[in-house]
Amino acid sequence: MTETVSFTFEGRPLEGRYGESLAAALIAAGIRGFRRTRSGAERGIFCGMGVCQDCLVEVDGQANQRACMTKLDRPMAVRRESVGRELSIPATAAPPRTIEKIPEEKPEILVVGAGPGGLSAAIAARRAGARVVVVDERSLPGGQYFKQIAISGGAQAPDRQQDEGRRLIEDAIAAGVDIRSGVEIWGAFPPLTLAGTEAGQIRVFNPSRLIVATGAYERGVPIPGWTLPGVMTTGAAQTLWRSYRRLPGERILIAGNGPLNLQVAAELVQGGAGIAAVVELAEVPTLRSLAALARMCAAAPRLVIDGLGYRRRLQIAGVPVIYGSAITRIKKSSDGLTVDIAEIERDVQGSKRTFSVDAVCMGYGLQPANEILRALGSEHRFDRVRDQLITWLAPDIPGKTTTTNVFALGDCTGLGGARAALAEGRLVGLAVAADLDHATGAGLTGEREAAQRALARHRRFQKALWQFYAARPLGLALATPETVLCRCEEVTVDRIQSALAEGCPSIGELKRNTRAGMGACQGRYCGPLVTALMAARLGRDPDDELRFAPRMPIKPIAVADIAGASRS
Ligand code: FES
Repeated sequence: MTETVSFTFEGRPLEGRYGESLAAALIAAGIRGFRRTRSGAERGIFCGMGVCQDCLVEVDGQANQRACMTKLDRPMAVRRESVGRELSIPATAAPPRTIEKIPEEKPEILVVGAGPGGLSAAIAARRAGARVVVVDERSLPGGQYFKQIAISGGAQAPDRQQDEGRRLIEDAIAAGVDIRSGVEIWGAFPPLTLAGTEAGQIRVFNPSRLIVATGAYERGVPIPGWTLPGVMTTGAAQTLWRSYRRLPGERILIAGNGPLNLQVAAELVQGGAGIAAVVELAEVPTLRSLAALARMCAAAPRLVIDGLGYRRRLQIAGVPVIYGSAITRIKKSSDGLTVDIAEIERDVQGSKRTFSVDAVCMGYGLQPANEILRALGSEHRFDRVRDQLITWLAPDIPGKTTTTNVFALGDCTGLGGARAALAEGRLVGLAVAADLDHATGAGLTGEREAAQRALARHRRFQKALWQFYAARPLGLALATPETVLCRCEEVTVDRIQSALAEGCPSIGELKRNTRAGMGACQGRYCGPLVTALMAARLGRDPDDELRFAPRMPIKPIAVADIAGASRS
């Protein structure tokens, strides 16, 4: 039996399941608007992974708590966060600490990110004899791909993907890896110091070697209505279901590009949701796509079988998959959301269709979460084909960046998928252990070769997969001048365009002029779009120089914690 916890929202008594996120409990209670912005607009859960800060609520008088990252583990009084409300310092606030009292930890290897890549790197390095600490901001290890069921006594058993993740976590623990969940890294300072918080306490790490495996987060694709409560990323919907067994709505429309949307639709159908449609940006598969499918089969048949299984499940449930189309507008209606979709490459008006739903999931691909690497000065370059920043890695030493003693792998260095990250992690773990003079010689040759073969295979799979799902990135194609581009600061497309037209000379100046990128998400959602606009105007690539510089804190931290820690 799942244990229940009582809590209140704006004084209304509610119940949730012990261990689920506050966001999951609120969604289950039918509450979608969690806070109001400066302009009075309502916001709810969007990214579901602690990046966007749209789900901020006040918990027991403490402001700025992310509902998606706050665990419901005790009775709590939750209120809508509202700009301008007077806040009191809770009596439970920790007393100021002095900097001398902050213990400095010096692990031999620190891995940031307990997803597939981070865990497999940790296991390989630990088995080679290194002392390894893995930190992750979530309450459970596994990352986005292997997210585990967080609630006790959940009615449904873990699926194959979660089981595989559980085995990986168990392997890491059995190998002696020290996994610390709930550690949020908010500072990265050259040459190699990381600062984080763990249960409200500041932590400082000075590792001998750092492995960054921070994964990715979903791309922002501004369309009219994309900030409305009930509109979230496909990843957020998947977390609600896979981790907490909660559905984002009863009738859901899923739109985007790539296989994750099909998988999540199939999972939500299995969970009892009605899926109005899956709207895929890529054109309907042709003979050319079938050739890509054949290459995918050759590289990773199991994954293709899984994909066909999702498609079949949707077919049985009568869920239409509409190709070559995208959402063009979302509006609030009396009983939920009205969503317009249209064929993108054809007559948008002529092909318009409208759906009434109570939740919309958008999954238009990912962006590498490379903030720590950029803050430490690791070199990056822009990849035009994949429209993303790629971390420069040494060709001869797995994962070695241009920053001394800093290694990186997986999606944070350039999107490659979880299966490739698993294999790459093994190679990077061994390389880092060797760099620290641990024995990784002849006995591990077989392991290294197997990982190299797996990595090559999954890279071939990914290449073919994105040929199958080839589509022009939407960027701002569907935004109107009034559409909010910077979600956090509510800066419209028109405002950015005007600043550029007035001759804003640099990305920093544009930020100061418009406030785009100054919000709580640190420009993670608006940054790539603003950079693309500026690059187009200047006629150059949206490379690292045209991006917002990484600023501390790269993740939220309470001012009281920093102030207390720096008072000496
Ligand atoms: S979207 Fe968060 S700062 Fe712009």
